[in-house]
Amino acid sequence: MIEVQEFITRRNKLYDKLKDNSVLILFAGVSVKRSADETYPFTINKNFYYLTGIEQEGSILVVSKQDKAINESLFISEYDEVKEKWTGKRLRVDEAKKKSGINNIFYLNTFQSEINTIITRKKIGVERISTIYLDLEPQNMLDNFKTTKDYLEIFELNYPWVTVLNIYNEIIRLRMVKSSAEVEELKDAISKTNIGLKQILKNLKPGKYEYQLSSLFYYTIQDNDHSELSFPTICASGVNATCLHYPNASSKIADGDLVLFDLGSQNNYYCGDISRTYPANGKFSQRQKDIYNLVLATNKLVAESVRPGVTLKELNDIATKNLAEGLLKLGLIENESEVRKYYFHSIGHHLGLDTHDPSIREEPLVSGNVITDEPGLYIKELGIGIRIEDDILVTDDGSYVLSGKIIKEIDDIEKAMESI
Ligand code: GLY
Ligand code: MN
Ligand code: MN
Repeated sequence: MIEVQEFITRRNKLYDKLKDNSVLILFAGVSVKRSADETYPFTINKNFYYLTGIEQEGSILVVSKQDKAINESLFISEYDEVKEKWTGKRLRVDEAKKKSGINNIFYLNTFQSEINTIITRKKIGVERISTIYLDLEPQNMLDNFKTTKDYLEIFELNYPWVTVLNIYNEIIRLRMVKSSAEVEELKDAISKTNIGLKQILKNLKPGKYEYQLSSLFYYTIQDNDHSELSFPTICASGVNATCLHYPNASSKIADGDLVLFDLGSQNNYYCGDISRTYPANGKFSQRQKDIYNLVLATNKLVAESVRPGVTLKELNDIATKNLAEGLLKLGLIENESEVRKYYFHSIGHHLGLDTHDPSIREEPLVSGNVITDEPGLYIKELGIGIRIEDDILVTDDGSYVLSGKIIKEIDDIEKAMESI
């Protein structure tokens, strides 16, 4: 669990970046309409959660910095007995204080007037608010019609002396460097993912349908700890695995197929993201072994290359070169430039509260970053798609593979499938 003190520390780091005479407004978001009166399950805005520890939809954080003094307030929905009877318990003021470490808790129906007061207030000897910070990430929905961009227009219209700035990058910079508590959260997410993968190894065999394995993974992580998926599970057999984000999971698994799993369990919102590729019948053919071992060697080479100072692009170049040389040796391409035919994504991404954790991709890695290492080869003509994905912590002097316990050697996989 992330302790409340850590949410406070994160906020203070962000507040150091705010200009004086400014106000920061961040939104938790709302659930989005699905059909008729049904909504998609609510997912908290992760920038909001990262800073507040609050998970309740509709909540708003307002922070003013004037004369260097910080004043923070959290707005939550009003207590409503009837609503609670229909849709369950909402946060009480005391709970919101305890979870966030914010002392001033208000109800949402006072938000508009409070904001107006803060922005227009003139105090003797104190300058008026001249900057408003919003998280202007695209598609940041505040309801079914409004995004933070609409707020930008409203503020610029109502308060013409104010400049609206985007706080997104400052929050992302904080999120990119994980604390030791966050690394523990990620380790737990990965362990939970491994519990699901072990069930898959026990149950995978020809004749099963892909969806039986993807639903087994979901059942297992739910059964274990009521955990949620990091993202919809990819279970792709044979040629289906040559589609990177194969969405259907509807095919019958054939004898002799490889089956690619790309999946993850969350742990307190922190996301595991692991790919493994297993032989449906428990044994790799020689052809499959050759291609699998090339992807595995690339995965290991990249892991060894991760250290502070290196960029994701450089890691991708290392992976691409190794895959190209290997494909050439296997006679699958005639010159190295053809590698993109079979490896057409990138080596990885930052990982955290989001699976594709927001990041400034071009920046060299620093200690505390967590990234994925996910080379793959997708050879349609052979009906083979292989991806091996690990989650890696950048340390002061190199890296640590957080998913090192999840088996990936051919012998280990075959042994695990044999002992069924
Ligand atoms: N599961 C999506 C990815 O690996 O990036
Ligand atoms: Mn993945
Ligand atoms: Mn990934």
